[in-house]
Amino acid sequence: MSDRKQVVVVPPYELHHAAREVLTPEFAIVEPSADPDQLAKALAGAHALVGLVSADVLAASPVLEVIGIPGSGWDQIDVAGATARGIPVVNAAGAQHAAVAEHAVGLMLSLVKRIAVSDRLFHAEKRFVGRDHFTGDAWPGWPEELGGKTIGIIGFGFIGRDLARKCRLGFDMTVLAYDPYVDPDEVARQGVAPVADLDRLLGTSDFVSLHLPLTQATRHIIGERELRLMQPHSYLINLSRAGTVAEEALVRQAGSTSCRSSRKAARASSSKPQAEQPASAVRTDGRYPAASSHTSSRCPRRACPLTCASFMTGTIHVASPSRRNTRASSRLNA
Ligand SMILES: NC(=O)c1ccc[n+]([C@@H]2O[C@H](COP(=O)([O-])OP(=O)(O)OC[C@H]3O[C@@H](n4cnc5c(N)ncnc54)[C@H](O)[C@@H]3O)[C@@H](O)[C@H]2O)c1
Repeated sequence: MSDRKQVVVVPPYELHHAAREVLTPEFAIVEPSADPDQLAKALAGAHALVGLVSADVLAASPVLEVIGIPGSGWDQIDVAGATARGIPVVNAAGAQHAAVAEHAVGLMLSLVKRIAVSDRLFHAEKRFVGRDHFTGDAWPGWPEELGGKTIGIIGFGFIGRDLARKCRLGFDMTVLAYDPYVDPDEVARQGVAPVADLDRLLGTSDFVSLHLPLTQATRHIIGERELRLMQPHSYLINLSRAGTVAEEALVRQAGSTSCRSSRKAARASSSKPQAEQPASAVRTDGRYPAASSHTSSRCPRRACPLTCASFMTGTIHVASPSRRNTRASSRLNA
């Protein structure tokens, strides 16, 4: 039996080859299948877990020292349980911001230029149908430009800031940001208007883009009331977790006559599509399982070594509430 500490990759996660290279010299990498016996055996000796860690997985890991999230959201980790046992939870916020921010820009361009809807129409009709590419019940009006439009960003962390920079410098957009946890002066320093009142951001933005974690406080932060506050022509982009938007309300609002039929929504879930989610009655331009952070250079599996290695070097983002904004100096292999 190896005396190296064990990093267990929780299925269905798979370790990226770059992660393997970083971890192999110092740690034994264990990659069990989902078979309950094999998994239980692996968890029993796990010093570090990489992947999604439920309360059951946590309870089955008695010698655990750290949990590494191959991503930035910690909604699928039992952070409270880990905190109660003094186990730090480290995430990879900052490892994927460019990939996700670029994806948001891609969705915005697809919406205003009617790229996806034109493609669908062309393939359905098997011919070029001219102006109908750009008009119709759900997509009235000609394509637009991003320049001069206003984007309201909810959540001004790694992704929100990068998106703000891209919109401001790349597209001459006005950028508003709502994030009660970020110093407004810091927001302003980045050429972005801090908005303390979410309702005001919703009412004045042409695009609203969500980049905040899914927590009890943020679940359904965009609901029926908030959707009503948005301008009739505005677009909603959600590249955070699906649960931040009340999807039934979105479907109702977009289908209602009180909301002009021009309301469009790009909704992309970074979690798996949920069976209980309503089939979309809304003509959306992006209701699909998003792979926004899965680029060749930035995929979350590649971010694993960042989380684990940063824990070992002491430069980490700690998601456990009682340890937020602290630095850990303990070494996994100490
Ligand atoms: N689609 C994808 O592939 C993908 C990839 C990475 C992350 N994400 C999601 O995006 C989220 C943001 O990622 P990030 O890397 O920018 O994280 P981050 O931690 O750097 O930033 C999140 C920001 O949200 C803010 N926030 C928290 N509660 C808020 C609230 N009630 N209202 C407004 N702002 C609030 C925080 O203060 C923080 O500044 C993640 O939590 C994750 O759920 C999705």
